[in-house]
Amino acid sequence: MTAVGIDAVEIRTGRLKLDLPNTFAPAKGEDPGKYTKGLGLNASSFPDSYEDIVTMGANAAHRLMERKGLGPEDIGRIDVATESAFDNSKPVSTYVAGCLEQVYDGNFHHANKGERKFACISGTQSLDDAYNWIKAGRHRGRAALVIATDTALYARDDPGEATQGAGAVAMLITEDPSVVELSTEQGYGSADETDFLKPQQQFPSVDGKRSMQVYLARMREALEDFESVAGDTHPDDYAYIPFHTPFPGMVRKAGLLGFRHMIRDTPVEDEFAEEIGRQPRPEGFDDDEAYEEAVRDYMDALKETEGYRDWYGNTIEPTLSISREVGNWYTGSVHLARASALRHALDNDVDLAGQRLLVGSYGSGAQAEIHAETVVEGWAEEVRAMNVDEQLGARHDLTFEEYESIHDAHNHDKDTDLDPLTSPDGEFAFTGWGRMGERQYEYVE
Ligand code: COA
Repeated sequence: MTAVGIDAVEIRTGRLKLDLPNTFAPAKGEDPGKYTKGLGLNASSFPDSYEDIVTMGANAAHRLMERKGLGPEDIGRIDVATESAFDNSKPVSTYVAGCLEQVYDGNFHHANKGERKFACISGTQSLDDAYNWIKAGRHRGRAALVIATDTALYARDDPGEATQGAGAVAMLITEDPSVVELSTEQGYGSADETDFLKPQQQFPSVDGKRSMQVYLARMREALEDFESVAGDTHPDDYAYIPFHTPFPGMVRKAGLLGFRHMIRDTPVEDEFAEEIGRQPRPEGFDDDEAYEEAVRDYMDALKETEGYRDWYGNTIEPTLSISREVGNWYTGSVHLARASALRHALDNDVDLAGQRLLVGSYGSGAQAEIHAETVVEGWAEEVRAMNVDEQLGARHDLTFEEYESIHDAHNHDKDTDLDPLTSPDGEFAFTGWGRMGERQYEYVE
């Protein structure tokens, strides 16, 4: 069977940074610990006034194509996953292709282009579409370009304002990939939920606390569904478990739930039992409330054990390092988590080829998906080629007043004309509107 998966990854952050504990928290009269300890975030990325989902996506794709020595003739489809689209008809992928055609000979007329929407999970769904297209043998030797790009902005003073972010992840999907091979087995947890939505509006309506419960419920369903086809999971089966990361504190909860599920009825549960007892079972309780309270107590005890903390530190914590510095990138977040883990392995000389990842994606509304990936030879070279640290270090550090202005500049209901805080340099930039209201872009040398 031909291996299909991710051959290369490029990350493009918005060029501005909002320091959450030092700039945002004091302006809001909040304790910085809410960000650094509670949510697990140090900073959010923001787009400058000439950046948007198209420029960030096209800039990531351009670097990826340059690095891999590709031209338009090598790409058979361009799929953009986003929940920040500004056009209800013309897909963002056409704007991205238009940008790339400015800098390459040839064009993408032969390439199938589309746009995927399902909150934050659509990046993974686009990966799936590319996988299926190649597995079906319809790709004629070409690669798929998948771009997850978002400006995750919330209305001012919405609780979600704490978890904003902006950036793009471009991924090349091919046969015989150089980063990871995707498993055929998948699990889903999907239900009609009202936790986060944007009915004809730019900024989301969010029931934040509920969205966290729905995330965990759907993720558990997806894990059970995955196990029904792939067999039981065990915590030691996976080198890393990248989850969708709206903020690292969410993954702290998901990791604990996943671990509890994976060890139930295994010798690992028995080992922990000596310290904290066995997991409560519903049949041991008279009512749901008593059972749920016992589960909460068990989880509180479990997360303090050395065994759990070691597992979390090795398997989950390394997936969070980029997210802590950029906030939520919606469709790109789970792919940032994978990149963080691989970067951690590279920095620590881990021999990862042949090891497996378990990837948990989630989109509000709501759906979770779980699949496995096998890291392949070549991953280290690909990960070494990413310039994410350089980009993060070069961001302009916003004052609170600049943050307010840039938030207004990206608010579709406000008419502002803000001078950029950085200068475009060898990148695509938004230049204004065309005669039919389309957004226009130019490559700035
Ligand atoms: N020191 C340490 N921890 C602190 C703290 C401090 N000074 N102040 C607060 N915290 C902790 C809280 O206890 C909480 O952790 P917990 O959930 O483990 O109890 C966490 O920091 C967040 O604080 P909270 O007061 O709950 O924040 P909030 O009311 O502003 O809401 C969200 C947080 C996530 C609900 C909100 O940012 C949101 O709506 N985000 C968008 C939706 C989203 O991302 N959903 C996720 C699923 S997709």
